[in-house]
Amino acid sequence: MPPSDSSAWLTEKAVLSYSAIEDARLREVLGSLIRHLHECVRETRLTEQEWEFAWTFMKRMAEFTSDARNEFLLLADVIGVSQLIELIGHERASSAVGYALVGPFYRANAPLRQRGESIVRDETAGKRVRITGRVYDLGNGAALAGAELDVWQAATNGLYENQDPQQPDYNLRGRFHTDEAGTFELVALMPTPYPVPTDGPVGELLRVAKRHPFRPAHIHFIVSRPGFETLITQVFVEGDEMIDSDVVFTASDNMIGRFRPDGDHYLLHYDFQLKPGVSTMPKAPIP
Ligand SMILES: [Fe+2]
Repeated sequence: MPPSDSSAWLTEKAVLSYSAIEDARLREVLGSLIRHLHECVRETRLTEQEWEFAWTFMKRMAEFTSDARNEFLLLADVIGVSQLIELIGHERASSAVGYALVGPFYRANAPLRQRGESIVRDETAGKRVRITGRVYDLGNGAALAGAELDVWQAATNGLYENQDPQQPDYNLRGRFHTDEAGTFELVALMPTPYPVPTDGPVGELLRVAKRHPFRPAHIHFIVSRPGFETLITQVFVEGDEMIDSDVVFTASDNMIGRFRPDGDHYLLHYDFQLKPGVSTMPKAPIP
């Protein structure tokens, strides 16, 4: 038997030992995970010391994880897994805005706000942007009245409201509804870049890799309506030089907005397209 095959029996035995799992999908995913992890060990000839480093790293990730922060989700984001799941799960026409990972700072149940209202709840420094647009059916172009836009963004200090005790509750968050013509209007902060948290093991990884920890400036949107697949996306700023090096690999051509200066603020017109399907809301990483 060639050396590469001498351990194959162990992989098959490990996979088979979970074959009594009744949930077919769980069985499939776990089997695939065992096979790929075994293959990684085999391919790299992983040593005991390297394996010890790996599980110590995971233990330290657990120590940095709390209700307010999930280091495991952050790792998945910075190695591109979270965005890969979005890409595979939501194939979109090139004319439609793309799906983006929800990110670790989403909070459900943001306050419902009036058309045209601002999500800025304090005197946060920074320019304002007035955002107008339309939500429509990707298939037939029909306006979608009563669609909900759940919007959130970081303050100019780089922190989301739930990372920063200085900001009022639900600052820079809000939900809006489209009118009969499918249009909406709101005011937000002109977004600015911010770093992901770097004081934990994931920060160490970024430093070792000589990667910067920044997300290009963006505003998060979840656009939903019963009978349509929920769109989770982010809008980036045209011309932002960090778009190509987004630390979580989300920014791409189908998520760029043209923010136009207008006096002391900015204007953005941006449309969202929904596809018929099942409407589901993501579970908020932070309660
Ligand atoms: Fe974000």
